[in-house]
Amino acid sequence: MSIAIETVTGAALLPHVPALSRLRAEVFAEWPYLYDADPAEEAKYMAHYADDPRAAIVLAKDGGEVVGAASAQPMASTHPEVRAAFLEAGLDPGEWCYFGESVLRAPWRGQGVGVRFFEAREAHARALGFAKACFCAVIRNANDPRKPAGYAPLDAFWRRRGYLHQPTLTCLFRWREHGDSFETPHLLSFWTKSLA
Ligand SMILES: CC(C)(COP(=O)(O)OP(=O)(O)OC[C@H]1O[C@@H](n2cnc3c(N)ncnc32)[C@H](O)[C@@H]1OP(=O)(O)O)[C@@H](O)C(=O)NCCC(=O)NCCS
Repeated sequence: MSIAIETVTGAALLPHVPALSRLRAEVFAEWPYLYDADPAEEAKYMAHYADDPRAAIVLAKDGGEVVGAASAQPMASTHPEVRAAFLEAGLDPGEWCYFGESVLRAPWRGQGVGVRFFEAREAHARALGFAKACFCAVIRNANDPRKPAGYAPLDAFWRRRGYLHQPTLTCLFRWREHGDSFETPHLLSFWTKSLA
């Protein structure tokens, strides 16, 4: 496989912000997110990782082109919605490393990059001293007519990486879906893993 995996932190990730913003917009436009990204907001969001010295972006590069990325960051410095969900469940956000997104352009899938994203993010979390990692994923109705035929959910992939689904640990994020004129709330549930 010619895909190179590289973990970048701080100012080193700033040159990648335009590519990362385009990548997130492209991948999250697909089912199940259907996200209609605002380029300026995307750039601002990706750049916030550079401001957090404990955040990391794992890049997948093919011939120098960024084709995928995954993020890891202490939960303490991520979305307030995430922290609120954990606090409400009686969990301490300070104990968790949060994996914000994992996006790979479709032609590069199925070659082990997603597995390497988890390995690199868990290594980063352990290096920061975390014994717990988590991420969240949108919940969709199984009968949603927008679901593409043959779509394979990632649940089994995540279980095989050792993550446990926590269906009652949820948070709401608002975003505009393609074709909509305003943002709507979307429910996401968490997946957790002990790194000990
Ligand atoms: C999530 C995502 C990054 C996974 O990427 P991926 O590179 O296709 O995943 P992988 O190829 O690593 O793993 C898929 C399967 O192929 C296997 N595989 C294929 N070739 C492999 C190789 N060379 N080395 C290791 N595993 C390989 C993996 O083991 C895995 O199977 P398993 O679960 O039975 O072990 C990708 O599906 C994606 O971008 N999805 C859309 C965005 C999204 O929903 N992200 C998650 C929420 S943020």
